[in-house]
Amino acid sequence: MHAFSDAFQADLETLMRWRRDVRRFRPDPVDEALLQECLDAFLMAPSVGLSEPWRVIRVESSTARAAALANYQAANKDALAGYSGEKSKLYAGLKLSGMQDAPVQLAIFCDEETQKGSGLGAGTMPEMRRYSVVSAIMLFWLAARARGLGLGWVSILDPKQICHDLDVPENHRLVGYFCLGWPEVVADSPELEGTGWEARRGSLPIEVR
Ligand SMILES: Cc1cc2nc3c(=O)[nH]c(=O)nc-3n(C[C@H](O)[C@H](O)[C@H](O)COP(=O)(O)O)c2cc1C
Repeated sequence: MHAFSDAFQADLETLMRWRRDVRRFRPDPVDEALLQECLDAFLMAPSVGLSEPWRVIRVESSTARAAALANYQAANKDALAGYSGEKSKLYAGLKLSGMQDAPVQLAIFCDEETQKGSGLGAGTMPEMRRYSVVSAIMLFWLAARARGLGLGWVSILDPKQICHDLDVPENHRLVGYFCLGWPEVVADSPELEGTGWEARRGSLPIEVR
């Protein structure tokens, strides 16, 4: 297949435009087969040296979820303390995770010392492994959105604490904590825009050298 149809290209653009970071979920469960279809995106993702350094932990137990939520709440409190004035008021009103209601929660790590790929491409920039995990997450995000599911990326966390609470090997670095489920609302613009926190750029500045 050399190219995709015009209709597909238009659909793909719509998918990218309507992909959202979701923090408000309906309580309905996510069908296991549907979840698996979304997770299959990891099997198609690019990675440096084909190292596939992603490690996914499904956070299911009430103990693990409570630890993750407490971690987020503490980090969010610290983050709030870093703002003052109007920005502080605005920050306090933001909903920055769906951890209290998302039916599926995943902690995704990068294995920084994977032997897979024999180090190809990661010699001068080992962070490429982490970028590979991010690339895979993007595919997962789109696969989920295409099926009507919403994904929320939570980064307001103490990564060391998460690694400890989930008992991951020493060489695993947290890339993000993800909430997945059926979104309460569907929107074509970021929630942070709606709240007045930040606006998306209307064009891409490109410098030429
Ligand atoms: C690396 C990364 C980390 C993020 N961390 C958080 C977070 O901790 N909490 C949150 O509410 N949103 C988080 N987001 C979502 C962004 O706020 C969101 O992508 C941005 O506002 C644009 O909105 P959109 O994704 O709906 O287009 C994160 C996104 C990325 C890519």
